[in-house]
Amino acid sequence: MSMKHLLSDGIKATPPSFVRGILKAASDPEVISFAGGLPNPISFPQEALLESMERVVKTYGSSVFQYSVTAGLPELRQYIADRYNRIFGLALTVDHVIITTGSQQALDLIGKVLLDKGDGVIVEKPTYLAAIQAFSMQQPVFYPVDLTEEGMAPEQLEAALQNPVKFIYAIPDFQNPTGLTYSAGNRERIRGILKDRGVVLVEDDPYGDLRFEGERLPYIGVGKLPGSILLGTFSKTVTPGMRTGFIISENRELLKYISVAKEAGDLHTNIFSQYVIWDYIKNHDLDQHIAKIRTLYRQQAQAMMDAMEQYFPPEVKYTRPEGGMFLWATLPEGVSAMSLFPKALEKKVAFVPGDPFYTDMKNLRTMRLNYTNADCETIREGIRRLGGLLEELIER
Ligand SMILES: Cc1ncc(COP(=O)(O)O)c(C=O)c1O
Repeated sequence: MSMKHLLSDGIKATPPSFVRGILKAASDPEVISFAGGLPNPISFPQEALLESMERVVKTYGSSVFQYSVTAGLPELRQYIADRYNRIFGLALTVDHVIITTGSQQALDLIGKVLLDKGDGVIVEKPTYLAAIQAFSMQQPVFYPVDLTEEGMAPEQLEAALQNPVKFIYAIPDFQNPTGLTYSAGNRERIRGILKDRGVVLVEDDPYGDLRFEGERLPYIGVGKLPGSILLGTFSKTVTPGMRTGFIISENRELLKYISVAKEAGDLHTNIFSQYVIWDYIKNHDLDQHIAKIRTLYRQQAQAMMDAMEQYFPPEVKYTRPEGGMFLWATLPEGVSAMSLFPKALEKKVAFVPGDPFYTDMKNLRTMRLNYTNADCETIREGIRRLGGLLEELIER
């Protein structure tokens, strides 16, 4: 029986994830995959997490297996508030933090709380494809604003704000997909533009801790713009499989509605995961652990950039990320990344063509490459194969 006539408009408007589709093709162990956004599994503190699992069961007994409160484990929320206060000089309390089932759930909740069909959302062009997916359920109108080397283009942001917009979604540090980071000056400008506008700024920051070059920069919104939301996650610093992320906002009214949406969605985030992560960070130095991940990713990013320098035709341009997990390549005029993709798969290399990171554009010359899930030798070999294909495709 066909289901088409029974489906909601929301699900019909929501694209399936291109990356999840690719991941199937890339799961062939012979394929060198630059496609997913997987952290390097050697960074997972497995032994320490095993100890934490045992310890939390012994210490807290049935509480770690019982239903729990929607906002999340208070100790973990307090830890998050303290950590952001320490690093960014903020004044957050436990009441400004809600634990979510990954920051992906936060995106879903924000869409549900703020959007009706036809409402405007300003996004970067390109942006995180699973954010497009999450917001699409509510059938908004997307207003993409160009992403430059400095971040979202301020003049275009001003122009986009002339539309009936509910929120702006931005990834200011090591953006997914481009690896770009907003400059200090541009953050300041955007803050000025958004001041007293009556819109929400959503800053999604899963990668900020993974800076391997330069200095950490202040957020645009939190602590400065009263309607702002900051999203964080333990996915890239501890493990993604525990599905533990968080929403920070000083706007308690907004948090109240988000909490109601979360209640309706899943009651609360897996409490066992929350206890384990809390125990892990209480008994270990998270900053030291993150420093090791940074060193690892610095080497992997460098290996990819060195290999691109050596094997990619000079017409191919690419970003040089200061942190995070991705870089973004732009092919010369006339070369489509989508048509390179099947050829690359034949050579057992996967990447993500740029198309799904745009709300309104097809057949592009851009591609996302992840460098965190293969060792340096493998990265080099994958880039060598891609370089060979590009040499064949580029007409001179
Ligand atoms: C920009 C961005 N936001 C959110 C997420 C989701 O992360 P989580 O594992 O916390 O749900 C990702 C994951 O790759 C991401 O890149």
